[in-house]
Order: sequence, then C-alpha cells, then structure tokens
Amino acid sequence: MPTLLRLDASANTSSSLTRALADRFVCEWRALRPDDRLIRRDVGATPPPALSQAFLAAAFEKGERSTEQKAVLKLSDELIGELEAADVIVIATPMYNYGMPAALKAWFDQVIRINKTFSFDLARGDRPLEPILNGKMLAVLTSSGEFGFAPGGFNESAGHLVPHIRTCAKYLGADHIRHVGIEYQEFGDERHRASKEAAFAAIPELVTELSSRVPDYARAEPARAS
Ligand SMILES: Cc1cc2nc3c(=O)[nH]c(=O)nc-3n(C[C@H](O)[C@H](O)[C@H](O)COP(=O)(O)O)c2cc1C
Repeated sequence: MPTLLRLDASANTSSSLTRALADRFVCEWRALRPDDRLIRRDVGATPPPALSQAFLAAAFEKGERSTEQKAVLKLSDELIGELEAADVIVIATPMYNYGMPAALKAWFDQVIRINKTFSFDLARGDRPLEPILNGKMLAVLTSSGEFGFAPGGFNESAGHLVPHIRTCAKYLGADHIRHVGIEYQEFGDERHRASKEAAFAAIPELVTELSSRVPDYARAEPARAS
C-alpha cells in the first residue's frame, strides 16, 4: 500500500516551524491521496538511543543472534520496518549546531544497518558499501536561525544539515530528493517572514510532484485469481 513516513526531529513540540511544514505536507498529501498509509515517527519527542557496544555486537553478529541481541535490535528492526514500507519519507528537521539534531542522527544510526539497509563487500573495491533499498522519495523540510547554507551561499561551509542527510539518503533507498527550507528564524525580520512564506508556498507543488511518482500498486500487483 502506498506509504508516507513522516519523521519529526525538532525537540520543540509546541511551536516548531519544521513540524508546521510537515503538517502542511501531510495535509496536502491527504487531500490528494486520502487512502495512503501514514507512519509517524517523532524522534524529536522520543529520541532513539545512541549506539552502544551491545548494539554493535548484535548488528555485526555473524552467527545466530542470542535472545538478548535480538532484544537490543528490536527498535532498530521496527524503525527499519517503517522505512522499508515507505514510498515517500518526509524528514522535518531544524538545524542544530550546523548539522542535524542528535535525535535524527540516532535514527540514521539505528536504520543504516549492515545486511538490512546496506551490504558490504570488499570485492567491490574502494566503495564496498551498497544500499539494499531503492526507489524511495525523500522530502527534507528544514528550518535554521541563520541563513545562506545552500551551495554558493554566505554560510555554505557551515551548512552540514542538508548535505549530511543527502549523503546518508542513499542508504534509506532514496534516489529522488527534494528540499524546502526556512531561514533567518533568529532574526525575526522581513527576510524570515518572506522565507517562511516561500517555504509554505512551495509545499503544494512538492506534494503534487512527489505524489505523481508514487507507484500504482493496484496495477503493479494485479489481484490473483483464486
Ligand atoms: C539547540 C539549538 C541549536 C541551534 N543551532 C543552530 C545553528 O547551528 N545554526 C542555525 O542557523 N540555527 C540554529 N538554531 C536555530 C534553529 O535551527 C531554528 O530556531 C529553527 O527554526 C528550529 O526549528 P523548529 O522550529 O522546527 O524547532 C538552533 C536552535 C537550537 C534550539
């Protein structure tokens, strides 16, 4: 079934700009595709744990996993299951300290896992990692207090949020990526107002574009004769 996975990474659960952008995205999506499944994962409100020695040992276990190891990977399995189900992933995230919030990084660390979302083979030479998933779309909805983090911008060299997400996105199976961002939040001036207005105005077009690319499962998987 066509599935949208919404991830919120802002620690602000009351007046977040990125949560508002994601709300608008989901609202527009529902208007166009009311029957799609929506999975919501709020890592801002409930951050996944950072990786531990026990997690690494379980993830890289070559033999049969123990009951304890399976338990350590339970959340990771659940998050990967949500990712696998998704046709479209929406990541709504603020910039924190010029990159992604730790909660979102923890989510990436939980889902980018050997033999689940990537394979590793030295026979491939200098690029031994290969994604296992593919065909997904990714909408990245951001907000920052400062501005000019895009290529060619005034703060380009400090802009680690979107480039980092783009780099990791291939292991999510995302090969079609779009970004909409609000800037200038800390200035609270006319530039912020205009940036906010432009970002919200860009959402309907983004939704139209992405929704038109969702596979037609009904046609792709014709009902079997009983
Ligand atoms: C802990 C923290 C760190 C931040 N670090 C940055 C930063 O490095 N660069 C920047 O431009 N804005 C930074 N900001 C501002 C946020 O990116 C901005 O307020 C954004 O609108 C927050 O998104 P939200 O409203 O969805 O929570 C930071 C805000 C917080 C709370």
